[in-house]
Amino acid sequence: MEFFIDTADLEQIKIAHSMGILDGVTTNPSLMSTIGIKGKKQIMKHYLDICSIVDGPVSAEVLSTDYKGMVSEGEELNDLHRNIIVKLPMTQDGVKAIRHLSNMGIRTNCTLVFSVGQALVAAKAGATYVSPFVGRLDDVSSDGLSLIREIKQVYSNYDKCQLDTKILAASIRNQMHIINCAKIGADVITAPLNVLQSLINHPLTDIGMNKFIEDTKKFI
Ligand code: E4P
Repeated sequence: MEFFIDTADLEQIKIAHSMGILDGVTTNPSLMSTIGIKGKKQIMKHYLDICSIVDGPVSAEVLSTDYKGMVSEGEELNDLHRNIIVKLPMTQDGVKAIRHLSNMGIRTNCTLVFSVGQALVAAKAGATYVSPFVGRLDDVSSDGLSLIREIKQVYSNYDKCQLDTKILAASIRNQMHIINCAKIGADVITAPLNVLQSLINHPLTDIGMNKFIEDTKKFI
């Protein structure tokens, strides 16, 4: 399973990258807005900055909401760097744009997916990744992990020449989400830095380390 970090914050991306376990990055307009960049020039530069840190897929979301705008933005983002994945929403125009970009050989990530039907459509349109939002479903008392399980089941019924879309579990809020996604067989998870870091921590590791440090003092 691949690990992506879900942020546009360069410092956090650097920290995750330095851990040596990071495969890629996902961003979205909300994450971009929190870091205070403004205007197209700055946005494009920011994506290039991210690509200079991580040599892996970097999802950059289109800001247009109509088909023509999404396609032209998608082409521009794709030309920016070989690692850019064009992120598009699960709307009728978004699906059309995914089909068009996919026909051109441009890699896409279909975002804002909350149902198996949507995931099926994303795969039919040729999306490289589908992003089901686990945490946001949990937030409304639905079961985000069940959605990952069902999408996995549906995609697994077909070989790669029929459906070739990777499941990118998004809106990951805690380490149990990651572990359960791994058990189900999601291809990728994208999570904030603190959630990725939480995988490393365990109270018994801390107690064990402290004991080793104390005992080391006795013979050094
Ligand atoms: C997916 O790519 C989104 O950027 C993200 O995972 C959404 O997460 P949130 O629900 O924590 O905003």
